[in-house]
Amino acid sequence: MPLHVLDHPLAGHLLSGLRDKETPPDSFRQLARVLTSLLIIEATRGLSTMQANIETPIEPTTTRVLAQSLAVVPILRAGLGMLEPAVQLFPDVAVGYIGLERHEDTAIARSYYSKLPNLQGKYTLCLDPMLATGGSAAQAISLIKSHGAATVVMVCVVSAPEGLATLEAAHPEVLVVAAAKDRCLNDRKYIVPGLGDFGDRLYGTF
Ligand code: PRP
Ligand code: URA
Repeated sequence: MPLHVLDHPLAGHLLSGLRDKETPPDSFRQLARVLTSLLIIEATRGLSTMQANIETPIEPTTTRVLAQSLAVVPILRAGLGMLEPAVQLFPDVAVGYIGLERHEDTAIARSYYSKLPNLQGKYTLCLDPMLATGGSAAQAISLIKSHGAATVVMVCVVSAPEGLATLEAAHPEVLVVAAAKDRCLNDRKYIVPGLGDFGDRLYGTF
């Protein structure tokens, strides 16, 4: 499975702020928004473009414009923290939602909500900051594919080797764009070193 780890000084700096346990929710949300913008720019590198003929104030010229429509699907709840930058960068984006929650003891994700548009032909980004066991992402991508998405890219902040292996087995063609590949999971299936519970830190629900 292709994995692209964003290698940029600003991405590393922003991720450092997210990892820091002293970072309060308001700063955490702001750091998440800016880092997500960088991730989305990278994750949409594969969008199709087409030639356009326009006129600048100086002379007619040939340019390239986007030729493929984009959809984004945040996985609730933590993925919602990545939605705003997607909509700002791509105002015409179609948005779907998938609600998944890991069981506290088993870490198995349970689906509690889903509302997806028709994704036929769409370049679709699945947004979830944490790829831990990969169970949530694998379920979400199956659902996204069943709605016809042409290409699916998984966008996350931190990925774990275990989650990457799960996705590779379930969806080998899906590109993962992440800000980091961390060491492993702990016995509670949290990413190590990770940044803790993203949803709790985003929404101040400790
Ligand atoms: C977190 C995270 C992912 C999932 C990753 O969500 O946002 O969706 O865990 O874990 P996995 O790769 O092992 O499936 P959580 O279930 O804690 O829900 P929340 O976003 O509502 O906090
Ligand atoms: N979900 C999180 O928010 N953090 C982890 O480390 C694993 C799953």
